[in-house]
Amino acid sequence: MGYNVAIDGPAGAGKSTIAKLVAKEKGYVYVDTGAMYRGLAVHFLEEGIQADNAEQIAEACRDVEVTIRYENGQQQVYLNGENITSRLREEAVGNMASRCSAIPAVRAKLLELQQKLAETQDVIMDGRDIGTCVLPHADVKIFLTASVDTRARRRYDELKTKGADCDFREIREDIVERDRRDSTREIAPLKQAEDAILLDSSEMSIAEVVAAILALCR
Ligand code: DC
Repeated sequence: MGYNVAIDGPAGAGKSTIAKLVAKEKGYVYVDTGAMYRGLAVHFLEEGIQADNAEQIAEACRDVEVTIRYENGQQQVYLNGENITSRLREEAVGNMASRCSAIPAVRAKLLELQQKLAETQDVIMDGRDIGTCVLPHADVKIFLTASVDTRARRRYDELKTKGADCDFREIREDIVERDRRDSTREIAPLKQAEDAILLDSSEMSIAEVVAAILALCR
């Protein structure tokens, strides 16, 4: 059994930034489970399936193959053998991922893949249900959050740096809606595991959050 660190939290809390730094410091493999949901979302969008058509989504899950590979230490997502990593951060893909992740067939498809990755290697895995469902026996569990305004501001600054034309209020509303969807779905909702440690990064620097997590790890 590998050493397992689980990081859950809402969109924009900084999970992936922090998890990557902890992984580098400790030599763990970083597993981004959101990217797997995004990978399936690319497939549903390509097939023209609506996010609320649970039946068609379940059927599409049967024939699709999502695999993860590590190239130069970076996680790559393959869809039926094609590397689609560059498409994962598209806005439409994120929205589709958030909506289709409420469908049981989608979660079932990815659960085994995620658990297998953590079985034989030391991992730090981030998502929404890692501490509660995917790795209930993880060695360290963190629930990383930040205020809605902080998360919206970070996203806004990130998009601005990339030269995007964006509106703070729209981004904030999108985050509120995503939080609502992720935490109210019936299956594996976003919530803090009872034995997870809560870290609110609103007033913390990246280095402070990383140091707090490193102090909890073996
Ligand atoms: O972390 P992210 O923004 O890349 O995740 C995209 C969506 O995938 C998120 O809105 C909800 C879903 N997701 C999930 O339901 N469970 C996970 N473990 C990870 C992501």
